[in-house]
Amino acid sequence: MLIRHAKPSDVASHEITPRDVYLRRRDMIASTGLIAGSMALGWGGDANAALYQGPGVHTPLTNVVEGYRKLGEKDPVTPYEAASSYNNFYEFGTGKEDPAENSGPFKPRPWTVTVDGLCANGGVFDLDDFLKPHQLEERIYRLRCVEAWSMVIPWIGISLADVVNRFEPSGSAKYIQFETVERPEEMNGQRSRFILPWPYVEGLRLDEAMNPLAILAVGMYGEVLPNQNGAPLRLMVPWKYGFKNIKSIVRISFVEQRPKNTWAVVTPSEYGFYANVNPKVDHPRWSQRSERRIGDFLRRETLMFNGYEEEVSSLYADMNLKTNF
Ligand code: MTE
Repeated sequence: MLIRHAKPSDVASHEITPRDVYLRRRDMIASTGLIAGSMALGWGGDANAALYQGPGVHTPLTNVVEGYRKLGEKDPVTPYEAASSYNNFYEFGTGKEDPAENSGPFKPRPWTVTVDGLCANGGVFDLDDFLKPHQLEERIYRLRCVEAWSMVIPWIGISLADVVNRFEPSGSAKYIQFETVERPEEMNGQRSRFILPWPYVEGLRLDEAMNPLAILAVGMYGEVLPNQNGAPLRLMVPWKYGFKNIKSIVRISFVEQRPKNTWAVVTPSEYGFYANVNPKVDHPRWSQRSERRIGDFLRRETLMFNGYEEEVSSLYADMNLKTNF
């Protein structure tokens, strides 16, 4: 049985036309009963750990339910090959092909996540223990990079709101901060301080983190995340520009002060903390009014909040989105 958290604005899943690659994988997974486990128990930790076969080997995820999904139009899913070969992950180099080419030696297992700061029950968790209490859901989301290209990707992840609730942030916690792992021996880009200051840092206001659209992803296209897409754990907040979606997270902190997110530190005139997709606020060097969907010939209009306005605009009701970019 598929458990569906429906919203009135949902597009029926049969209206979304996944490209053949995803269809083939999904059919294969569904026919072997790996997706759509009934009343699933979450990560299914040991089972998936046992299935994990190392980088470059496709590892199906079990016990996944269909989560909230809404597309503003009938967007076809981007082919897996494109989503896993055209990436931004500067820890492996600045070229789009670099992450796929250079992330082979990276080891996303074993993995620990530290939860600390202003919360009642933080700690250091093995990834399986971190994920175990949560339900894995598939969410098909648009990803809109600040560089004006976009994709549609079926992610598998856990609700960030559930994670926040579980660790019980105190009243003084106003933000949640995320940090990427630092492993220069496995991440060639981190051997240079001239690329970015490491570790990569991102953050959200706590009420943004509680929005039902926000997830921590562990997979895509029915399988464990490939290294180049941020294995084993990354953020996905689809109403924001892609750089908010920090990859390979090792630390989650509840903090009072607004986190100093990497791109806003490096180029504050071009990148801010909020990074909400906004076709009316241009990047200083290019327009944000339209985007190139990877695989399409013609550009398409960029939608306010990447098409998730109904779900998130109330978070910013009192804000000037031109100055808070
Ligand atoms: N996270 C880390 N740690 N390092 C990065 O360089 N790049 C960001 C984001 N997360 C980045 C990161 C940017 S700019 C984008 S657009 C998305 O990851 C790209 O995600 P994808 O490669 O899975 O499409």
